[in-house]
Amino acid sequence: MSDAEIKKGLAGVTVDYTAVSKVNPETNSLLYRGYPVQELAATQSFEAVALLLWNGDLPTAEELREFEEFERSHRDLDAAVRTTIDLLPLDAHPMDVARTAVSVIGALAPAADVADNSVASDLAKAKLLFAKIPAIVAYDQRRRRGEALVEPRADLDYARNFLWMTFGEEADEVVARAFAVSMVLYAEHSFNASTFTARVITSTTADLYSAVVGAIGALKGALHGGANEAVMHILDEIGSAENVGPWLDTALAEKRKIMGFGHRVYKKGDSRVPTMKAAFDTLVAHYGADDLAALYDALETEFVGRKGIYPNLDYPSGPAYHLIGFDTPTFTPLFVAARVTGWTAHIIEQAASNALIRPLSAYNGVDERHIDGYIASD
Ligand code: ACO
Repeated sequence: MSDAEIKKGLAGVTVDYTAVSKVNPETNSLLYRGYPVQELAATQSFEAVALLLWNGDLPTAEELREFEEFERSHRDLDAAVRTTIDLLPLDAHPMDVARTAVSVIGALAPAADVADNSVASDLAKAKLLFAKIPAIVAYDQRRRRGEALVEPRADLDYARNFLWMTFGEEADEVVARAFAVSMVLYAEHSFNASTFTARVITSTTADLYSAVVGAIGALKGALHGGANEAVMHILDEIGSAENVGPWLDTALAEKRKIMGFGHRVYKKGDSRVPTMKAAFDTLVAHYGADDLAALYDALETEFVGRKGIYPNLDYPSGPAYHLIGFDTPTFTPLFVAARVTGWTAHIIEQAASNALIRPLSAYNGVDERHIDGYIASD
């Protein structure tokens, strides 16, 4: 087999159909179930977008009301999940905490429900995780800060309640809006690494919880979801707009990857960035964060100018989450809270039309050899 036949990283390989979303790098567009993501971010709540991803259509007013009622009444942190989180060291990475907590939710569920991978059962599990993950993320950030748990509030929508549970105060309208937009933009992106991981796990007929736990593991890496955290580390390291040039000289000489830039599919810019950048701009104005905005613009201009590699969604979302007040290691779990919608839509789609995902490899190890003195018995 020649090197050309090896599809390293599965780059350019189409492995299945999906009706969940369409990424078109030529036109820089992203459709969720046919709707441009920008239109959804401007007009729909994250709750409505979750239902769109799961069901294939935007909800009726009644369907949305029912789901909101369910979500608002399942936001609390189960005692066993909270106790498990409490057992974890305070310096455990929040992605490890989120991965562990979701695993505990799956292990606590009745075994027959876990094993039932019918659409109705998987949808119920997806909705449960949607409601629970914010409590996990918020509680973990609070305990690391030495703050007490804040109970959820059923009078607030998903985004406002998430911010309430994290910070213990009601979010300003601008902040809640920017946060909700980030959730919509992060919700789904076809066969990215974490979604593909979830589909691989589902293809073995393993349960939805196992698939989501695996997807969280895949999302943690800095080449994928971990990039939003890594962006903030880079911006902290550079410090101010004046330092961008010399910092970039060194970073590029050392062949460092500049986090928040580049994408496997989009080569001319990420379709989600303008919407998230606009949300970031509203936060900059709200918090008076002109220095951060100047640093953001300077790095983008300089890096795009030198390399022609464009920002991806993690570039504006990292500093946006920083302005809202999230600790940097909490950024990627926020991506989990959003992407659990897309993951579970794909899990349901994979299960409905399954084929075990099992590619081939070309062996390039040592030639066949034998144990000295071994004599076959027959
Ligand atoms: N900084 C510096 N150079 C880069 C970057 C970057 N961010 N992205 C790509 N390049 C360069 C590579 O070094 C490589 O150069 P070479 O051909 O001279 O070796 C070339 O561009 C192609 O890059 P690959 O990494 O091979 O392309 P791939 O399609 O595999 O990469 C990836 C996509 C992994 C996202 C890459 O752009 C990257 O590492 N970016 C930084 C991490 C990041 O922001 N990830 C978030 C992805 S989006 C999301 O999860 C929402």
